[in-house]
Amino acid sequence: MNIRQATMKDIDTMYELINMYAEKGLMLHRSKLSLCETLTCFSVVESSEGKVIGVGGLHILWEDLAEIRSLVIAPEYAGQGIGKKLVHYLSERAQELGIKKVMALTYQEQFFNHCGFRVVEKETLPHKVWRDCVNCSKFPACDEIAVLKEVL
Ligand SMILES: CC(C)(COP(=O)(O)OP(=O)(O)OC[C@H]1O[C@@H](n2cnc3c(N)ncnc32)[C@H](O)[C@@H]1OP(=O)(O)O)[C@@H](O)C(=O)NCCC(=O)NCCS
Repeated sequence: MNIRQATMKDIDTMYELINMYAEKGLMLHRSKLSLCETLTCFSVVESSEGKVIGVGGLHILWEDLAEIRSLVIAPEYAGQGIGKKLVHYLSERAQELGIKKVMALTYQEQFFNHCGFRVVEKETLPHKVWRDCVNCSKFPACDEIAVLKEVL
């Protein structure tokens, strides 16, 4: 297993994995255009056979805050510690960039707890966090939980 920055050749698999979970209401849909435009934010997990089995984005929101978005592990690889490794990789990436805190909006509170995140009040986060939310069918009645971790 290898975690690396995403490239254009990963776009189709990223699109399939993210939107498969988006169909289940677990995250926002992403268009191929939006994935292309934000490609530099994304990392992927490759199996030993070179297949992309996980995706995660690290989007910078402010000078001290980045958000983990579109975090997915292919169902057949879930529960093997891969999601945690990907979150660790993205947190290290934030550290390298000199960003103090990493957050996520999620239904997977327990998973993020296991990754060292704690639940915070959404109101404590900057308004910029909600920029994408206007595209969500649940807006403004969002039931996702905000989680945060200090990485610096
Ligand atoms: C959530 C998701 C990324 C987790 O990835 P994963 O590879 O299955 O998780 P891991 O095996 O790395 O689990 C890490 C830890 O979290 C725990 N954990 C994972 N999912 C959990 C859950 N739903 N409830 C409780 N604990 C959970 C594991 O037991 C493990 O504990 P440990 O550190 O004590 O060993 C993956 O299941 C997924 O893609 N889900 C659908 C999409 C989604 O909801 N993404 C999150 C959007 S923010």
